[in-house]
Amino acid sequence: MSAWRLPPDGLPFPDPPLVGDPGILLRPWAIGDAPALATAWVDPEIARRLPVPDDPTVERAAHWIAGGAKRRRLGLALDLVVVDADDRVLGEVGLSSFDADRAAALIGWWTMASARGRGVASAAARLLTNWAHNGLGLCVLVAQIGPDNPASVQVAERAGFRELSGRTGAWVANIAERALPGGC
Ligand SMILES: CC(C)(COP(=O)(O)OP(=O)(O)OC[C@H]1O[C@@H](n2cnc3c(N)ncnc32)[C@H](O)[C@@H]1OP(=O)(O)O)[C@@H](O)C(=O)NCCC(=O)NCCS
Repeated sequence: MSAWRLPPDGLPFPDPPLVGDPGILLRPWAIGDAPALATAWVDPEIARRLPVPDDPTVERAAHWIAGGAKRRRLGLALDLVVVDADDRVLGEVGLSSFDADRAAALIGWWTMASARGRGVASAAARLLTNWAHNGLGLCVLVAQIGPDNPASVQVAERAGFRELSGRTGAWVANIAERALPGGC
């Protein structure tokens, strides 16, 4: 497996933007999305399963969104908002914890309560996983899923992940067998 290098300008956005069924588009977060993000942060399911700020206000959400450019430049994270055809926020999918030596990263996802159960997270995870491999050149993506989160397990399986044996809560999408520029 070859090492991976952060591009000189930092983590790029998918270009063209990723689109797929059920009518979703993955785009960069915009400041105007702050109210939707603040709403997501106070959703009980999201708040108990994912790290959210202690003060989940619209101002804090705007601050987090504004920090996205720095996180990309430093290679820390690439966060994409999932929107519908009317540009309504449905959820998020993102990459973090990049490990250049292993050409690996963590992937995470959530959807707004109102958008659940119609394939949004599965589609978004599949789109970003494929692009992370084919566009960004990563070899391995890992999703950390609590054993009490069967919906997220479904999402992972539909996006092509399989459970890592001996690692409870870790799901991996690994395309070592797929020919990539530079190889995996
Ligand atoms: C987990 C989560 C992302 C799923 O989002 P979603 O958009 O509803 O996901 P999808 O519709 O693509 O797929 C969910 C699948 O799980 C299934 N599912 C939902 N609840 C389930 C449960 N309790 N047991 C088993 N399967 C369940 C759904 O039926 C669906 O499968 P189906 O289409 O075959 O019926 C969403 O519930 C969420 O944001 N939860 C809170 C945050 C979170 O847990 N993030 C992931 C952290 S690892």
